Amino acid sequence: MLTRRESFRGAAAVALCANAVSIVEAAAQSATGRSADSVAADETFWRSVRQAYRLDSRYIILNGGGNNPYPASVTDALHRFDQMASSAPRPHNYTLWGQVHNHRRRLARLMDCSPDELAITRNTTEGLNIVGWGLSLREGDEVLMADSEDQYASPIFAQRAKRHGILVRRVELPIEPTAKETVALFEQSMTNATKLIVASHLVDGLGYVLPIRELSDLAHDRGAQLLTDGALGFGHVPVSMKELNCDYYATSLHKWLSAPLGTGALFVKSDRLESLWPLYGTRRAADDIRKFEDIGTRSGPTLAAIGQAIDFYEHLGPDRKLARVRYLLSIVMTALENVEKVRVITEPDASKRAGLARISVSGFSGRALTSRLRDQYGLLTYGNWPGEIDGVYVSPNVFNTPREMKILTDAIKETAASSN
Ligand SMILES: Cc1ncc(COP(=O)(O)O)c(C=O)c1O
Repeated sequence: MLTRRESFRGAAAVALCANAVSIVEAAAQSATGRSADSVAADETFWRSVRQAYRLDSRYIILNGGGNNPYPASVTDALHRFDQMASSAPRPHNYTLWGQVHNHRRRLARLMDCSPDELAITRNTTEGLNIVGWGLSLREGDEVLMADSEDQYASPIFAQRAKRHGILVRRVELPIEPTAKETVALFEQSMTNATKLIVASHLVDGLGYVLPIRELSDLAHDRGAQLLTDGALGFGHVPVSMKELNCDYYATSLHKWLSAPLGTGALFVKSDRLESLWPLYGTRRAADDIRKFEDIGTRSGPTLAAIGQAIDFYEHLGPDRKLARVRYLLSIVMTALENVEKVRVITEPDASKRAGLARISVSGFSGRALTSRLRDQYGLLTYGNWPGEIDGVYVSPNVFNTPREMKILTDAIKETAASSN
């Protein structure tokens, strides 16, 4: 429980902030003409970016793959829009809600797809459910997924197995699989009954980048489809739906894009649109992507403020964001290399790596390590992965600093030294 003094300090820390978009715009202008990799280590640039956030100064936030603080421009817009909507919900909530069509076009540009292929959902889970329940699968049809899909996609298809008699088959991926191994393992597990492959873009809690393009080619060659869980990808890894060529890509905008909580997007390839059932009854035509959005009244303020998150991401620059989180992660990897009792697992191919890694310390469960890092060092990570590499999941974001990475690695070293 926080003392009064602590909560006052936290509140004061979040109160100070100038206009976030102007800050990031000015920083981006100062970096014009420089490569993303050279900007990645420019602390003057990133100090300005950090000022665009109102962070709780009691913590070092390292769970970018979970939920992210919003840039202040998003929070301010949310407050403004909320006041507007509540002052006269009809028309204001509906006017704000209507901005979703503009955001759809902008998000489609970022995802390299047509706006007619992009539904604005509430989160990844909803997108996975739309596809999971909307596909016309029959008794005996098979769905193939890696064991790492356990938490999110798996329960959907497990229910369909109970209700509709489909079969769910698991592909056991090694902890550090190569792209070639991954594709080979899926290929060996496919049968004539396989109708769908489910694969995460970035493996939950590990940061592995799965070979989505190769898996979609495999699925299509065998008459199946590919559903990608992109919760941890879009918003910090630049994506192209055309290049990935998956049939469905479900993501959350409230994760890496830092849009308001309760926002997500689902890509449905145009030639799959008509045959995919919406979860809710709708009067829209079968080939209208908005059929997936008819869920009753939605929050106009929440949807409208997606625009400020897109502004921030575009001004900052997707390549710069990825280069920065990779750079921060590389500091962690170097500092923890060869430290006894410590293991760091992330995408081994540095050219594909994103901003996610798992760190384990022998003798500590992920839960125990999460609590220790939070309570003793103010480090916010997440960890609950019982198994061979139970550890914490660390994902730095653009507001983090090399100094914070050092606090993390020193804390991990001290923890390892304390373990017997
Ligand atoms: C890989 C993966 N898929 C899906 C989700 C669910 O995201 P949401 O709660 O935004 O639907 C998460 C959340 O952390 C995730 O890590």
